[in-house]
Amino acid sequence: MKRTSLIPELRQIIAQEKQRGRVIALVPTMGYLHRGHLALIEQAKQTCAYVVLSIFVNPLQFGPKEDLSRYPRDLERDVNLIKHAGVDVLFHPTEQDMYPHPIVTYVEVSQLDAVLCGATRPGHFRGVATVVCKLFHIVQPDLAFFGQKDYQQYLIIQRMVSDLSLPIEVCPVPIVREEDGLALSSRNVFLTSEQRQEAKVLSQSLIEAEECLLAGERSARELEKQLREKISRNCHGVIDYVEVRDAGDLSEVTIIERPVLIALAVKFGSTRLIDNKVLEVIPHV
Ligand code: PAF
Repeated sequence: MKRTSLIPELRQIIAQEKQRGRVIALVPTMGYLHRGHLALIEQAKQTCAYVVLSIFVNPLQFGPKEDLSRYPRDLERDVNLIKHAGVDVLFHPTEQDMYPHPIVTYVEVSQLDAVLCGATRPGHFRGVATVVCKLFHIVQPDLAFFGQKDYQQYLIIQRMVSDLSLPIEVCPVPIVREEDGLALSSRNVFLTSEQRQEAKVLSQSLIEAEECLLAGERSARELEKQLREKISRNCHGVIDYVEVRDAGDLSEVTIIERPVLIALAVKFGSTRLIDNKVLEVIPHV
């Protein structure tokens, strides 16, 4: 596996691979990798001849009161973890490499960024879209892989690619979970053992919501209410949001009659966890 933190060096490596006719995949990450990231790499490897993994904790996507300084970082641990994963080049730029001077140019995907996580984290998705757009320009991948745990992020990137006619296919990869259902996240390391134990209620509540839908519940508000009650009864976490929205454009839903996203964010102490499920509706016969 090659490694570089330098944009010109990465560009040279990729130009050579493109000349050889290789299909290039990009797996953008902020590091502190886990099995969820390995699933992204595996998916990339299956479809593309050359896999670029980026590790960059992007300051633009953290709000002033958020956890940029405590975001877990351990490059050598990450390198060890991906040793046999099939990454061809690891791109790990510094902040100076990515933003040599204060940035004044941003990419904003409006509307989609105003709800769910965007409502409580103003500027977050502008930071994400900007850095991903920049990575797309640096790497010029044919395909890029994003985990569905960050479903809203995936939709925003897909919309950015479509609106700006970027010649890149955005590929979603299913959520990877612990045995008890907790969605993998780099932030899980911050949970105390009690919080970790309680956090399994998030995925359990989503499974229950699916069961309710299968049993015929069609009211989005009723599903949200049941989810909130289940979470509040079973943990000390503070609910940021629990929402049922259209899975295609995140618009509001009252009666569920097309695919919906059930998304939630809950704070355990200062650790904010998110999870979601996309549910299809089986029409009544
Ligand atoms: O999902 C993440 O890890 C980040 O938001 C991303 C896409 C790497 C952009 O910094």
